[in-house]
Amino acid sequence: MRGVIDGAALPKHVAIIMDGNGRWAQRRFLNRKAGHAAGAEALKKLTREAEKLGIEYMTVYAFSTENWKRSREEVNDIMDLIRKYIQQYIDDSENNQARVFVIGRRDRVPEDIVRKIENLERVTEDKQGIKLIIALDYGGRDEMIRAVKKLCSRAKDEEITESLFESFLDTSRFPDPELLIRTSGETRVSNFLLWQLAYAEFHFTDKLWPDFNINDLKDAIRRFQDRERRFGGR
Ligand code: FPP
Repeated sequence: MRGVIDGAALPKHVAIIMDGNGRWAQRRFLNRKAGHAAGAEALKKLTREAEKLGIEYMTVYAFSTENWKRSREEVNDIMDLIRKYIQQYIDDSENNQARVFVIGRRDRVPEDIVRKIENLERVTEDKQGIKLIIALDYGGRDEMIRAVKKLCSRAKDEEITESLFESFLDTSRFPDPELLIRTSGETRVSNFLLWQLAYAEFHFTDKLWPDFNINDLKDAIRRFQDRERRFGGR
């Protein structure tokens, strides 16, 4: 798709379902782990480029509450990659401006990863670049149930409003995404940010996640801006 991006009308927050790592590997006669590793590299690169473009928030679906159903080997491989990726981010934080947050459950991911996440959130807390939000052991329904439980125990006498409910979600510190991208030709939302995507534009592409690059992101943004222009800003 041609045309330039309007830098003044960028989506502030882009959410991404990074799908297709397995098929990317299969097409190259590689194992699934190699596909996830290529996916992690694609994410690193895209984060830097999205930051340069001026995107303020990017939330990515790294591991869903349903992903535990995959083989033990694949779950371990993904956890290993996440461990490695977080450690690299910590080691390289001086050369990086991204501030990283992790949303989702923390009671089922390996303990050492939880420690690393806490460390990563701490070492990047003064960073002024893009806010990268990694959804790990995350599911929208699970998040809402956890929010309701907190709300019931802490806000007994308050009137229940959307903003009160939102304050108990994992994402309470972030604005809602205006644009959701899903790669690999799938067109489901798969329990991702169910509350937060209420008004988002959805963009689906056949590209497999490891092949998704900054030009694809720009393409998604152009289409987003085109639709916003046609339907009038909200
Ligand atoms: C979907 O592809 C991808 C995942 C379930 C995991 C996403 C993980 C990464 C991009 C790498 C690790 C993340 C970080 C933050 C380092 P799929 O396996 O469902 O692909 P398929 O549908 O082609 O099999």
